[in-house]
Amino acid sequence: MNFAPTEEQQMVRDMVKKFAETEIKPIAAELDKTHRHPEEICRKLGEMGIMGVAVAEEYGGAGMDNVAYVMAMIEISKACASCGVIVSVNNSLYGFPVKTYGTEEQKHKFLTPVASGQVEGCYALTEASAGSDAASLKCRAELKGDKYIVNGTKTFITNGNVANYCVLAATTDPAAGYKGVINLIVDLKNTNGFKVGKVEEKMGILASGTAELVFEDAEVPAANLLGKPGQGFKQMMEGLNAGRIGIGAQACGIGRAAMEDAINYSKERVQFGKPINTFQAIQFKLAEMATELDAAELLLLRAAWMEDHKLDHEKESAMCKYYASDVAMRAAIEGVQIFGGYGYIKEYPAERHMRDAKICQIYEGTNEIQRVVIARKLLGLR
Ligand code: CAA
Repeated sequence: MNFAPTEEQQMVRDMVKKFAETEIKPIAAELDKTHRHPEEICRKLGEMGIMGVAVAEEYGGAGMDNVAYVMAMIEISKACASCGVIVSVNNSLYGFPVKTYGTEEQKHKFLTPVASGQVEGCYALTEASAGSDAASLKCRAELKGDKYIVNGTKTFITNGNVANYCVLAATTDPAAGYKGVINLIVDLKNTNGFKVGKVEEKMGILASGTAELVFEDAEVPAANLLGKPGQGFKQMMEGLNAGRIGIGAQACGIGRAAMEDAINYSKERVQFGKPINTFQAIQFKLAEMATELDAAELLLLRAAWMEDHKLDHEKESAMCKYYASDVAMRAAIEGVQIFGGYGYIKEYPAERHMRDAKICQIYEGTNEIQRVVIARKLLGLR
């Protein structure tokens, strides 16, 4: 078994690492404090091909694989978790369904601007009463002539307040359950009847916008339907299989940042006449963080590799998402503990890592749902 990255994957990792360390990390605290959308970072990452790593070059992407994508995601998220989720949503939740189910025309029109990083995309699934139970969504799309008339409100939509385009999950027939779900591409800047609603105040990932999307008799061309009616739920689930790999990578990046900051601090912090890294109490914490983060990264790379090789990776992507986010949370909590009182104040990044890590256990399917997904596959229940 070969654990070495290819030359191309290594090149992407090195390029993104350099960019993240010199241009993202220095402004991460400011972004967190001001909640500012990192417009300039998104545009530069776009120029580097990182807003569509695994999208073909003819649609504005870098034409690389998902292993390269997760390597880039780790480096970006290590520097700034908010930038990480913005990149993940563009690549996975928006990019995946459009590149996989879109027609040539849809891809040229709606994928190219997002994959090339000119504008942001988002994915609108969640509603106030449809979170874990995604099939219970109520947002209604009624076909009238050559348009869908859309009514409903989406909540907690990452990039929702800044995105130009959205893949919107709606139902044409609530009585049909998941079989009534369709995905429509919506041009958010040019759709009558659409508005951005409440922008949420959150605990972490503060530089990424999380917004309500409100549709009131919004008119969406029928030509913007992805695939065929009846396929929407499956498209959505397959998109989440891909998206969970992105969040696993975000979590690995946050966990690594927490560990590296704790290592550096433990070398400098002197108590009882010696650096605290000479105490086993600290060494054991660092050893556990390193081991768990390596294990998470191996699960992550396996899932990305399986996606690249078109293998069923539903279980593996759920495994890497839940394990990496649980590990990132533990690493971030222990990071704060190693920093002691300094870990609890905003002058140091330890508390930010802890706030940022938490969401990875919740979004793109709570970690409880990931365990449901894994168990159902394991037991042959699906
Ligand atoms: N891959 C492919 N197909 C799948 C699938 C998967 N992972 N899971 C289910 N399906 C298919 C099934 O095979 C079935 O199709 P058939 O009848 O043709 O076989 C169909 O979908 C319905 O499946 P279920 O009956 O199993 O569906 P369910 O209602 O029991 O739901 C669930 C399953 C796993 C709980 C699902 O609802 C789920 O994943 N919930 C979590 C939702 C979620 O992840 N939300 C995240 C929002 S996006 C976000 O968070 C973004 C962000 O902020 C960054």
